[in-house]
Amino acid sequence: MAEPAIRLTSVSKRFGGVQALDSVDFAVDAGEVHCLAGENGCGKSTIIKIVTGVYQPDPGARIELFGEVVEKVTPQEARARGIAVIWQDLALFPEMTVAENIAFETMLGNRPRRVSYPAMRKRAVAALARLDVDLDLDARLNTLPIAQRQVVAIARALVSDARLIFMDEPTASLTQSETDALLDVVRKLSARGVAVVFVSHRLAEVLDISSRVTVFRDGRLVGVYPTEGMTQGRLTELMTGKHFETTVAARDVTGPPVLEVQGLTRQGEYADVSFTLHAGEVLGLTGLIGAGRSELGHTLFGMSRADAGQVLLDGKPVRFPSNRAAVDAGIAYVSEDRLSLGLIQPQSIADNTVMAVLKRITSGGLISPAKKAALVDHWIRELAVKIGEPTDAVSTLSGGNQQRVVLAKWLATEPRVLILDSPTVGVDVGARAGIFRIVRQLAETGLAILLISDEATEVLANADRVLHMAGGRILGEYDPRETTLQGLEAAIYA
Ligand SMILES: Nc1ncnc2c1ncn2[C@@H]1O[C@H](COP(=O)(O)OP(=O)(O)OP(=O)(O)O)[C@@H](O)[C@H]1O
Ligand SMILES: [Mg+2]
Repeated sequence: MAEPAIRLTSVSKRFGGVQALDSVDFAVDAGEVHCLAGENGCGKSTIIKIVTGVYQPDPGARIELFGEVVEKVTPQEARARGIAVIWQDLALFPEMTVAENIAFETMLGNRPRRVSYPAMRKRAVAALARLDVDLDLDARLNTLPIAQRQVVAIARALVSDARLIFMDEPTASLTQSETDALLDVVRKLSARGVAVVFVSHRLAEVLDISSRVTVFRDGRLVGVYPTEGMTQGRLTELMTGKHFETTVAARDVTGPPVLEVQGLTRQGEYADVSFTLHAGEVLGLTGLIGAGRSELGHTLFGMSRADAGQVLLDGKPVRFPSNRAAVDAGIAYVSEDRLSLGLIQPQSIADNTVMAVLKRITSGGLISPAKKAALVDHWIRELAVKIGEPTDAVSTLSGGNQQRVVLAKWLATEPRVLILDSPTVGVDVGARAGIFRIVRQLAETGLAILLISDEATEVLANADRVLHMAGGRILGEYDPRETTLQGLEAAIYA
């Protein structure tokens, strides 16, 4: 019998009108990889914040850490007891080196003001060795890709003797191969007795990495299940209480061309890209991250300039000197990076929703509160965004609900061309289905949609045609009705 690392009983947490957690139990065994699954806003991040002392639970909770009941968990207390979190923003120091990020803090703990650099490097090397990874100790953090920064954050947790590490959606912005590498690191941690609590909306990953999964729904515990024998379909049902079928939605689209891209080239990013997007069509664009997909999207949205080739909108050549010009021409762009490009975090849900259409709700220089409220109300309802009040800051929403606000903001512009760049990163299965249902409805009203995604399943299920891009070039076109997932993935990973 494994000994429990942590055991939480009757944990509740209320934020104003939102019952984020309602008397849930949660336990993790030592050395176990345990997944926490559930739809957006079901309370996953909240329970992590409670175990790590960021939030205090409402009265009545019992928290047992490594066999001891702890009355009040503070961040220091959690750390001292061997609990670490790899936050989504990683909380590292971008200007410092790999070695400094890993070991500096623990050195300070030992001997204030006297940090021995050789000793610090030795600790960093030892931590990286435990993970079997090779990193340049002297590289500055801000020069490394996200995946490597994550490894640094994990190594830092090991230096401070973490016995339980929480990872909240660590793979959301990783490529497939980076994800595989991270899952390997998680397995190694577990083999060395470090427990990992892993949160991900990618259910294949959840089933692959964990031995048990705890499912929450609407702040309540649904149950704790062994992953052995569990399927994605069953897990989805547990998370949502509903049954989902994946079917191919592709149809023959006969609408007129809306966006024509001809021989578009931008040095070092993409080359000789040509395709036509029709009214009413959902065109999938897939390939690994780094294939040039997002870079192409940026040019189409006026965020960068092509060196050669041209773009036609409704048959007329267009050139967008800025994204403002692209928006005015009827192009909307939902970015993969909602946190930096999509939303203004401290501003309200309502303000974010109307941000791109201020002109339409303004008369005589004043915003009409009634028009604004009606617009916000419409889109919040249409996209089923789970919110308290429209006046709440966007930063109070769960990740997936923030993504829906980004969608709302762009749909409110009533665009002709909608570019969706990885629109479901961090969005749960139920909400994904909801978003794609909306995408489908929008296409049926004549909107031309470019769906950029690195998930082959996503484009096959939702696009009418699929383009495969690699090394900045379009390599192939696929009809989802005649393409298997294995076939497309074989092309992508070739
Ligand atoms: N600081 C806060 N203030 C107000 N409401 C909050 C706060 N933190 C969380 N909530 C609310 O509590 C609920 C649970 O949020 P939480 O972040 O735990 O969800 P989650 O399961 O992590 O979702 P996701 O998968 O989208 O990340 C949500 O309705 C969220 O809006
Ligand atoms: Mg979360």
